[in-house]
Amino acid sequence: MPDRADVATLLEHDQRQLHPYYHPNKHTDPLVVERAEGVWLHTVDGRKVLDGLAGLWNVNAGYGRAELADAAREQMLKVAFTSNFVGMTTVPAAELAHRLAGLAHPSLNTVFFASGGSEANDSAFKTARYYWKRLGKPEKYKIIARKLAYHGITLATTFATGIERYHKMFGPAVPGFVHVPAPYPYRYDGDQRPGESVGQAAARAIEEALLREGPETVAAVIAEPIQGVGGVIVPPDDYFPLVRALCDKYEVLLITDEVITGFGRTGTWFGVQQWGLRPDLLTFAKGITSGYVPLGGLLLSDAVRDAIWNAPEAETWMHGYTYSGHAAACAVGLRNLDLLEQEALPARARQLGERLLAGLQTLLEFPVVGEARGRGLLCGVEIVKDRATRAPHPDLAGQIYGALLKRGVRSRRVGASTLAFAPPLVITEDEIDLIVKTFGAVLDAL
Ligand SMILES: Cc1ncc(COP(=O)(O)O)c(C=O)c1O
Repeated sequence: MPDRADVATLLEHDQRQLHPYYHPNKHTDPLVVERAEGVWLHTVDGRKVLDGLAGLWNVNAGYGRAELADAAREQMLKVAFTSNFVGMTTVPAAELAHRLAGLAHPSLNTVFFASGGSEANDSAFKTARYYWKRLGKPEKYKIIARKLAYHGITLATTFATGIERYHKMFGPAVPGFVHVPAPYPYRYDGDQRPGESVGQAAARAIEEALLREGPETVAAVIAEPIQGVGGVIVPPDDYFPLVRALCDKYEVLLITDEVITGFGRTGTWFGVQQWGLRPDLLTFAKGITSGYVPLGGLLLSDAVRDAIWNAPEAETWMHGYTYSGHAAACAVGLRNLDLLEQEALPARARQLGERLLAGLQTLLEFPVVGEARGRGLLCGVEIVKDRATRAPHPDLAGQIYGALLKRGVRSRRVGASTLAFAPPLVITEDEIDLIVKTFGAVLDAL
């Protein structure tokens, strides 16, 4: 462990050279993580914290996995990187693409690799535009997204994101992104007719947006199966089948953003499998490598692939990053899929997710807890000023976040006033119970 003087110097470097861009008041007492194991983070000053958010919802296989370090080392010694553009490929890139084919849906059999979720979503938008141009409908370029969506921070994905805080300082807006209400049963802010479910109302909002914009101008609808950063919003079961039907009716592509929900998080390999949903494009990142190295990408339906494949030379799909199909990243991805499979981590997420959710729901005895919801190991607890009005209480949620961290449990405040829990899928029953018990103790002490 470094001595105190070293830690002070490290923090000074961090604040001056690495983290100067956020508000300085938010810089108090950061965790300086030195090592981690399972679900536990160990800091340079000897603190031990249960990472209830798996890094940034991504360390699915848990920390300290020698198998993943070995996979990177072995591949780096063979070939860490070489071009993946036309005429060249590598063994792990081709193998990982094959392994991903059909994993989310039988019609998604082609992969494009990027290095993260924002790049993946940006690639999806370009691919949707490309697809319609190839089909002779170049005027179809708009993207319908939902409020409270988070899709990344490139310029395009910033404006696909439906959280205004992300837009404010970066305008003017990229044209063509249209937002509709999120399918958020606890706080639905759209128009809901008598007798209509929230799922039906939220789907109708998409149809109305399609008609308002003109379906002949819309390329795609993008949706996270469960909205993460927007507040762990689990849509009602009737929502996605209706969205799929609308996409078919009006001829628009459905892009599902599985950056958080992919690779076992919700209890199935992908979030779309919760509803047997067929997307045309599916984006992924995070859990594909459990965060050990950066990797993301896009799965394409056979119809979209054919449009690319059959294009004349002059209309080639000119898209690809230097690091698309990075050999070492793909090798880690492959080994990570082995771990998820061998240890049945998606099923484990389902079982332990039930335990976590049941535990969090016991906290409803506290009046500031409005709702606990989730699927698999992706849960959220809504903190409110008053249960009857459901008024959010962001300050209190922030206070609870801080108190939890002080007691050694890391969560994240998301959405209006929600605490998110998405621990590594290797978490044990005792560790789940510890999250719930600590949360209860914090609420008790308020
Ligand atoms: C649903 C979703 N999409 C996209 C992204 C962006 O991914 P990245 O940060 O890897 O660019 C995130 C990041 O949290 C996300 O949660």
